[in-house]
Amino acid sequence: MSQRTLILLKPDAVQKSLIGEIVGRFEKKWLKVVGLKLMNMSGALVDEHYDFLMDKPFFPSIKSYMTSSPIVALAVEGHESVKVVRSMCGATNPVDALPGTIRGDLAKNIDNNIIHSSDSEETAGKELARFFKSEELFDYGRPLLG
Ligand code: CMP
Repeated sequence: MSQRTLILLKPDAVQKSLIGEIVGRFEKKWLKVVGLKLMNMSGALVDEHYDFLMDKPFFPSIKSYMTSSPIVALAVEGHESVKVVRSMCGATNPVDALPGTIRGDLAKNIDNNIIHSSDSEETAGKELARFFKSEELFDYGRPLLG
C-alpha cells in the first residue's frame, strides 16, 4: 500500500551537512520525495509536535535543540513508507541503532538523534499537515524513467 510519511532532519543533521546523504538514502530506496523544505521550528511548533513528551524532564532540552537552527521537513511517498522509513532510521537511541541505519551510522546520542519519522499512518497524516500546506505537497508520476 502506497503511503506518505513525514521525516524531519534535525538541527544536527543540517549542521553536519548530512542533508544530501540522508535524503539520498531515501531516494535510493525508491521513495518519492513529495515535499521538501528548510525551516525554523518555532517553540509553539515544538510544543505541538512533541506534546506527548511535555511532562518529561528532557523536554526543555528537546525544545532548545529543535529550535537551535533550521531543520529540513521531508515528505516521502512509497510502498509501506511509514514502516520502511522507521526501519531505515533505526532505534530512537543511536546507541541501540544498528549499523546500516541512519542513526546507527550518523547519530551520536539520544539528545542528538539526527532524524524524526512518523510512527504510524495516522500520525503521518497529522504530522504532514503540521509541516506542509497542501500546495507544498506534490503529486507527480515518473514518466522520464521510461
Ligand atoms: P523522535 O523520533 O523525534 O521522537 C521523540 C524524541 O524525543 C526522540 O526522537 C528523541 O529526540 C527524544 N527523546 C526520547 N527519549 C529521550 C530521552 N530519554 N532523553 C532525551 N531525549 C529523548
